[in-house]
Amino acid sequence: MNVQIDARSIGKAENSDGLLARNTRLQQGDPVRIRVRRHDPDDANKSGLESFVVPYDQSMRVLDALNYVAEHFAADLAYRWFCGSKMCGTCAVRMNGREVLACWESVEPDMTIEPLRNLPVIRDLVVDRTPYEARVAKFEPWLERPCDYPGFPESLSHKDMKNASKALDCISCMSCFSACPVVGLGDLTNFAGPAPLVQLAQTALDVRNDPAKVARALEVAGIFNCVSCYKCEEACPAKIPIVTRVIEPLKAKTAELVPHAARHATTFRAIIAARGRIDPSELVLRVQGAKVLLQIGRALRLLVRGKINPFRTLFGKYKGAARAASRILDQ
Ligand code: SF4
Ligand code: SF4
Ligand code: FES
Repeated sequence: MNVQIDARSIGKAENSDGLLARNTRLQQGDPVRIRVRRHDPDDANKSGLESFVVPYDQSMRVLDALNYVAEHFAADLAYRWFCGSKMCGTCAVRMNGREVLACWESVEPDMTIEPLRNLPVIRDLVVDRTPYEARVAKFEPWLERPCDYPGFPESLSHKDMKNASKALDCISCMSCFSACPVVGLGDLTNFAGPAPLVQLAQTALDVRNDPAKVARALEVAGIFNCVSCYKCEEACPAKIPIVTRVIEPLKAKTAELVPHAARHATTFRAIIAARGRIDPSELVLRVQGAKVLLQIGRALRLLVRGKINPFRTLFGKYKGAARAASRILDQ
Protein backbone atom coordinates (compact mmCIF):
# COMPACT_ATOMS: atom_id res chain seq x y z
CA MET A 1 0.00 0.00 0.00
CA ASN A 2 1.39 3.38 -1.00
CA VAL A 3 0.88 5.84 1.85
CA GLN A 4 1.22 9.53 1.04
CA ILE A 5 2.58 11.58 3.91
CA ASP A 6 1.91 15.28 4.04
CA ALA A 7 4.99 16.86 5.64
CA ARG A 8 2.79 19.48 7.33
CA SER A 9 0.89 16.77 9.21
CA ILE A 10 3.96 15.03 10.66
CA GLY A 11 3.66 14.96 14.42
CA LYS A 12 -0.04 15.78 14.45
CA ALA A 13 -1.16 12.15 14.43
CA GLU A 14 1.14 11.37 17.34
CA ASN A 15 -0.15 14.34 19.29
CA SER A 16 -3.78 13.37 18.81
CA ASP A 17 -3.24 9.64 19.31
CA GLY A 18 -4.18 9.68 22.97
CA LEU A 19 -6.46 7.20 24.67
CA LEU A 20 -9.55 9.24 23.84
CA ALA A 21 -8.60 9.46 20.16
CA ARG A 22 -7.94 5.73 19.93
CA ASN A 23 -11.24 4.89 21.59
CA THR A 24 -13.11 7.32 19.39
CA ARG A 25 -11.88 5.37 16.38
CA LEU A 26 -13.43 2.15 17.72
CA GLN A 27 -16.63 1.31 15.84
CA GLN A 28 -19.42 -1.04 16.85
CA GLY A 29 -18.23 -4.64 16.35
CA ASP A 30 -14.54 -3.76 15.94
CA PRO A 31 -12.23 -6.33 17.53
CA VAL A 32 -10.93 -5.50 21.00
CA ARG A 33 -7.89 -7.63 21.73
CA ILE A 34 -7.60 -8.51 25.38
CA ARG A 35 -4.90 -10.50 27.14
CA VAL A 36 -5.80 -11.54 30.69
CA ARG A 37 -3.22 -12.72 33.19
CA ARG A 38 -4.60 -15.97 34.57
CA HIS A 39 -3.46 -17.55 37.81
CA ASP A 40 -4.58 -20.93 39.07
CA PRO A 41 -3.21 -21.65 42.55
CA ASP A 42 -3.67 -25.40 41.99
CA ASP A 43 -2.19 -25.68 38.51
CA ALA A 44 0.87 -23.66 37.48
CA ASN A 45 0.37 -24.77 33.83
CA LYS A 46 -2.86 -22.80 33.70
CA SER A 47 -1.12 -19.58 34.73
CA GLY A 48 0.02 -16.93 32.24
CA LEU A 49 -1.49 -14.57 29.68
CA GLU A 50 -4.56 -15.79 27.79
CA SER A 51 -5.78 -13.92 24.70
CA PHE A 52 -9.34 -13.20 23.65
CA VAL A 53 -11.01 -11.03 21.04
CA VAL A 54 -14.30 -9.38 21.96
CA PRO A 55 -16.49 -7.23 19.71
CA TYR A 56 -16.54 -3.55 20.62
CA ASP A 57 -19.85 -2.22 21.88
CA GLN A 58 -20.71 1.43 22.36
CA SER A 59 -19.21 2.94 25.57
CA MET A 60 -17.63 -0.39 26.39
CA ARG A 61 -15.81 -0.53 29.72
CA VAL A 62 -13.07 -2.93 30.79
CA LEU A 63 -15.66 -4.64 32.99
CA ASP A 64 -17.95 -5.19 29.97
CA ALA A 65 -15.06 -6.81 28.12
CA LEU A 66 -14.32 -9.09 31.09
CA ASN A 67 -18.02 -10.00 31.35
CA TYR A 68 -18.01 -10.87 27.64
CA VAL A 69 -14.94 -13.09 28.08
CA ALA A 70 -16.55 -14.84 31.07
CA GLU A 71 -19.84 -15.36 29.22
CA HIS A 72 -18.41 -16.57 25.90
CA PHE A 73 -14.92 -18.00 26.41
CA ALA A 74 -13.81 -18.56 30.00
CA ALA A 75 -16.59 -19.19 32.50
CA ASP A 76 -13.99 -19.81 35.20
CA LEU A 77 -12.38 -16.35 34.86
CA ALA A 78 -12.12 -14.85 38.35
CA TYR A 79 -12.55 -11.08 38.75
CA ARG A 80 -14.32 -8.91 41.28
CA TRP A 81 -16.90 -6.21 40.99
CA PHE A 82 -19.95 -5.13 42.90
CA CYS A 83 -21.45 -1.67 42.33
CA GLY A 84 -20.47 -1.14 38.69
CA SER A 85 -20.38 2.61 39.31
CA LYS A 86 -17.09 3.69 40.95
CA MET A 87 -18.44 3.35 44.47
CA CYS A 88 -17.25 0.09 46.04
CA GLY A 89 -13.62 -0.02 44.87
CA THR A 90 -13.62 -3.80 44.34
CA CYS A 91 -12.99 -3.91 40.58
CA ALA A 92 -9.52 -2.31 40.36
CA VAL A 93 -7.12 -4.06 37.97
CA ARG A 94 -4.09 -3.03 35.92
CA MET A 95 -4.74 -2.25 32.29
CA ASN A 96 -1.70 -1.84 30.05
CA GLY A 97 0.44 -1.21 33.11
CA ARG A 98 -1.70 1.33 34.92
CA GLU A 99 -4.24 0.91 37.68
CA VAL A 100 -7.87 1.45 36.62
CA LEU A 101 -11.37 0.72 37.87
CA ALA A 102 -12.72 -1.89 35.44
CA CYS A 103 -16.24 -0.51 35.85
CA TRP A 104 -15.16 3.01 34.91
CA GLU A 105 -12.36 2.70 32.37
CA SER A 106 -13.05 2.58 28.64
CA VAL A 107 -11.60 -0.36 26.77
CA GLU A 108 -8.56 0.16 24.56
CA PRO A 109 -8.28 -1.62 21.20
CA ASP A 110 -5.41 -3.69 22.51
CA MET A 111 -5.12 -4.29 26.22
CA THR A 112 -3.44 -6.46 28.80
CA ILE A 113 -5.40 -6.89 32.03
CA GLU A 114 -3.52 -7.95 35.14
CA PRO A 115 -4.24 -8.11 38.87
CA LEU A 116 -3.11 -5.31 41.19
CA ARG A 117 0.49 -5.46 42.39
CA ASN A 118 1.75 -5.61 45.97
CA LEU A 119 -1.06 -7.93 47.13
CA PRO A 120 -1.13 -11.75 46.92
CA VAL A 121 -3.14 -13.06 43.97
CA ILE A 122 -5.86 -15.53 44.93
CA ARG A 123 -6.97 -16.43 41.40
CA ASP A 124 -6.74 -14.62 38.03
CA LEU A 125 -7.57 -10.95 38.73
CA VAL A 126 -8.69 -11.42 42.34
CA VAL A 127 -6.23 -10.25 44.98
CA ASP A 128 -6.15 -10.90 48.71
CA ARG A 129 -6.88 -7.66 50.59
CA THR A 130 -5.86 -9.08 53.98
CA PRO A 131 -2.45 -7.27 54.15
CA TYR A 132 -4.22 -3.94 53.62
CA GLU A 133 -6.94 -4.70 56.15
CA ALA A 134 -4.38 -5.83 58.74
CA ARG A 135 -2.44 -2.58 58.35
CA VAL A 136 -5.59 -0.47 58.68
CA ALA A 137 -6.69 -2.43 61.76
CA LYS A 138 -3.28 -1.82 63.38
CA PHE A 139 -3.96 1.93 63.17
CA GLU A 140 -7.23 1.59 65.16
CA PRO A 141 -8.81 4.10 62.77
CA TRP A 142 -11.59 5.49 64.91
CA LEU A 143 -12.04 8.63 66.98
CA GLU A 144 -11.31 8.74 70.67
CA ARG A 145 -12.01 12.11 72.19
CA PRO A 146 -9.67 13.35 74.91
CA CYS A 147 -12.55 15.42 76.34
CA ASP A 148 -16.33 15.13 76.51
CA TYR A 149 -18.56 15.57 73.47
CA PRO A 150 -19.62 19.23 73.62
CA GLY A 151 -23.09 18.50 72.21
CA PHE A 152 -24.78 19.14 68.87
CA PRO A 153 -23.98 21.14 66.76
CA GLU A 154 -20.26 20.79 67.23
CA SER A 155 -18.43 23.64 65.52
CA LEU A 156 -15.71 22.51 63.12
CA SER A 157 -14.04 24.84 60.63
CA HIS A 158 -13.24 24.00 57.02
CA LYS A 159 -9.55 24.65 57.79
CA ASP A 160 -9.62 22.11 60.62
CA MET A 161 -11.26 19.39 58.56
CA LYS A 162 -10.10 19.99 54.97
CA ASN A 163 -7.50 17.18 54.89
CA ALA A 164 -9.49 14.58 56.85
CA SER A 165 -12.55 15.21 54.69
CA LYS A 166 -10.55 14.72 51.46
CA ALA A 167 -9.38 11.35 52.79
CA LEU A 168 -13.03 10.37 53.34
CA ASP A 169 -13.48 10.24 49.54
CA CYS A 170 -11.44 6.99 49.48
CA ILE A 171 -13.25 3.95 48.07
CA SER A 172 -10.51 1.50 49.20
CA CYS A 173 -9.82 0.34 45.67
CA MET A 174 -6.10 -0.35 46.36
CA SER A 175 -4.98 1.30 43.10
CA CYS A 176 -2.54 3.55 44.98
CA PHE A 177 -1.23 0.59 46.98
CA SER A 178 -0.51 -1.24 43.73
CA ALA A 179 1.19 1.78 42.14
CA CYS A 180 3.46 2.61 45.10
CA PRO A 181 7.12 1.67 44.44
CA VAL A 182 7.98 1.76 48.16
CA VAL A 183 5.25 -0.76 49.02
CA GLY A 184 6.78 -2.84 46.22
CA LEU A 185 10.01 -3.10 48.24
CA GLY A 186 8.16 -5.41 50.66
CA ASP A 187 9.74 -5.94 54.07
CA LEU A 188 12.74 -3.74 53.25
CA THR A 189 10.81 -0.86 54.81
CA ASN A 190 8.06 -0.62 57.42
CA PHE A 191 6.01 1.71 55.19
CA ALA A 192 2.27 1.17 55.63
CA GLY A 193 1.50 2.30 52.08
CA PRO A 194 -0.77 4.99 50.68
CA ALA A 195 -4.17 3.26 51.00
CA PRO A 196 -3.81 2.44 54.73
CA LEU A 197 -2.47 5.96 55.32
CA VAL A 198 -5.51 7.48 53.63
CA GLN A 199 -7.67 5.46 56.03
CA LEU A 200 -5.54 6.65 58.94
CA ALA A 201 -5.80 10.28 57.79
CA GLN A 202 -9.60 10.14 58.11
CA THR A 203 -9.22 10.09 61.89
CA ALA A 204 -5.60 11.15 62.57
CA LEU A 205 -6.15 14.49 60.81
CA ASP A 206 -9.47 15.02 62.59
CA VAL A 207 -8.96 17.66 65.29
CA ARG A 208 -11.34 15.84 67.66
CA ASN A 209 -9.09 12.79 67.96
CA ASP A 210 -6.91 12.07 70.98
CA PRO A 211 -3.29 13.06 70.09
CA ALA A 212 -1.89 10.18 72.19
CA LYS A 213 -3.88 7.67 70.14
CA VAL A 214 -2.84 9.33 66.87
CA ALA A 215 0.80 9.20 68.00
CA ARG A 216 0.54 5.43 68.59
CA ALA A 217 -0.67 4.90 65.03
CA LEU A 218 1.92 7.22 63.48
CA GLU A 219 4.67 5.44 65.38
CA VAL A 220 4.09 2.28 63.29
CA ALA A 221 3.21 3.94 59.96
CA GLY A 222 6.79 4.28 58.65
CA ILE A 223 5.60 7.38 56.84
CA PHE A 224 9.01 8.90 56.19
CA ASN A 225 9.73 6.04 53.79
CA CYS A 226 7.45 7.75 51.29
CA VAL A 227 9.57 9.27 48.52
CA SER A 228 6.85 11.68 47.31
CA CYS A 229 6.88 10.25 43.78
CA TYR A 230 3.15 10.98 43.28
CA LYS A 231 2.49 7.58 41.63
CA CYS A 232 -0.33 7.02 44.13
CA GLU A 233 -2.03 10.30 43.22
CA GLU A 234 -1.81 9.52 39.51
CA ALA A 235 -3.53 6.17 40.09
CA CYS A 236 -6.29 7.34 42.42
CA PRO A 237 -9.71 7.18 40.68
CA ALA A 238 -11.24 9.28 43.47
CA LYS A 239 -8.75 12.07 42.66
CA ILE A 240 -7.57 12.35 46.25
CA PRO A 241 -4.42 14.51 46.46
CA ILE A 242 -2.74 11.77 48.49
CA VAL A 243 0.69 13.36 48.81
CA THR A 244 -0.34 16.93 49.54
CA ARG A 245 -3.47 16.31 51.62
CA VAL A 246 -2.64 13.01 53.32
CA ILE A 247 1.08 12.12 53.37
CA GLU A 248 2.50 15.60 53.97
CA PRO A 249 0.00 16.51 56.74
CA LEU A 250 0.64 13.10 58.37
CA LYS A 251 4.41 13.71 58.17
CA ALA A 252 3.89 17.10 59.87
CA LYS A 253 1.73 15.43 62.53
CA THR A 254 4.45 12.81 63.09
CA ALA A 255 7.07 15.55 63.52
CA GLU A 256 4.80 17.16 66.13
CA LEU A 257 3.65 14.06 68.05
CA VAL A 258 6.46 11.51 67.49
CA PRO A 259 9.57 13.69 66.97
CA HIS A 260 12.06 10.81 67.10
CA ALA A 261 10.35 9.17 64.08
CA ALA A 262 10.84 12.39 62.11
CA ARG A 263 14.45 12.97 63.13
CA HIS A 264 15.94 12.51 59.67
CA ALA A 265 13.39 14.83 58.02
CA THR A 266 13.55 17.58 60.65
CA THR A 267 17.35 17.53 60.65
CA PHE A 268 17.37 17.69 56.84
CA ARG A 269 15.09 20.73 57.00
CA ALA A 270 17.15 22.44 59.70
CA ILE A 271 20.39 22.00 57.70
CA ILE A 272 18.84 23.50 54.57
CA ALA A 273 17.47 26.42 56.58
CA ALA A 274 20.90 27.07 58.14
CA ARG A 275 23.13 26.45 55.12
CA GLY A 276 20.97 27.10 52.09
CA ARG A 277 21.75 23.57 50.85
CA ILE A 278 21.95 20.04 52.19
CA ASP A 279 25.23 18.81 53.64
CA PRO A 280 25.37 14.98 53.74
CA SER A 281 28.13 14.74 56.36
CA GLU A 282 26.32 16.99 58.81
CA LEU A 283 23.11 15.06 58.17
CA VAL A 284 24.76 11.70 58.91
CA LEU A 285 26.54 13.08 61.98
CA ARG A 286 23.42 14.65 63.46
CA VAL A 287 21.09 11.71 62.73
CA GLN A 288 23.40 8.81 63.57
CA GLY A 289 25.54 10.53 66.22
CA ALA A 290 29.30 10.67 66.78
CA LYS A 291 29.59 6.85 66.75
CA VAL A 292 29.48 7.09 62.97
CA LEU A 293 33.03 8.54 63.10
CA LEU A 294 34.26 5.10 64.17
CA GLN A 295 33.21 3.65 60.80
CA ILE A 296 36.40 4.75 59.08
CA GLY A 297 36.04 2.46 56.05
CA ARG A 298 32.57 3.78 55.30
CA ALA A 299 33.68 7.40 55.73
CA LEU A 300 36.58 6.84 53.30
CA ARG A 301 34.27 5.30 50.70
CA LEU A 302 31.89 8.27 50.96
CA LEU A 303 34.85 10.64 50.69
CA VAL A 304 36.26 8.92 47.58
CA ARG A 305 32.87 8.98 45.90
CA GLY A 306 32.45 12.67 46.65
CA LYS A 307 29.39 12.04 48.83
CA ILE A 308 30.87 13.96 51.74
CA ASN A 309 33.17 16.94 51.79
CA PRO A 310 34.60 17.93 55.21
CA PHE A 311 35.81 21.27 53.86
CA ARG A 312 32.30 22.19 52.76
CA THR A 313 30.86 20.90 56.05
CA LEU A 314 33.14 23.23 58.03
CA PHE A 315 32.99 26.33 55.84
CA GLY A 316 30.16 25.88 53.33
CA LYS A 317 27.42 28.24 54.49
CA TYR A 318 25.65 30.32 51.89
CA LYS A 319 23.99 33.18 53.73
CA GLY A 320 21.86 34.44 50.84
CA ALA A 321 20.64 30.94 49.96
CA ALA A 322 20.03 30.16 53.65
CA ARG A 323 17.86 33.27 54.04
CA ALA A 324 15.86 32.34 50.94
CA ALA A 325 15.51 28.71 52.08
CA SER A 326 14.36 29.74 55.56
CA ARG A 327 11.80 32.08 54.06
CA ILE A 328 10.37 29.28 51.88
CA LEU A 329 10.45 26.67 54.64
CA ASP A 330 8.75 28.96 57.15
CA GLN A 331 5.83 29.71 54.82
S1 SF4 B 1 4.20 9.35 46.86
FE1 SF4 B 1 4.76 8.01 48.57
S2 SF4 B 1 2.90 6.80 48.96
FE2 SF4 B 1 2.66 7.75 46.93
S3 SF4 B 1 3.39 6.21 45.52
FE3 SF4 B 1 5.16 7.54 45.95
S4 SF4 B 1 6.20 6.56 47.67
FE4 SF4 B 1 4.15 5.61 47.54
S1 SF4 C 1 -6.74 6.67 48.02
FE1 SF4 C 1 -7.61 6.54 45.97
S2 SF4 C 1 -6.44 4.92 44.98
FE2 SF4 C 1 -6.03 4.74 47.16
S3 SF4 C 1 -7.51 3.23 47.87
FE3 SF4 C 1 -8.45 5.25 48.18
S4 SF4 C 1 -9.62 5.63 46.31
FE4 SF4 C 1 -8.25 3.94 45.86
S1 FES D 1 -17.53 -2.25 40.67
FE1 FES D 1 -17.60 -0.89 42.34
S2 FES D 1 -16.04 0.54 41.91
FE2 FES D 1 -16.05 -0.73 40.17
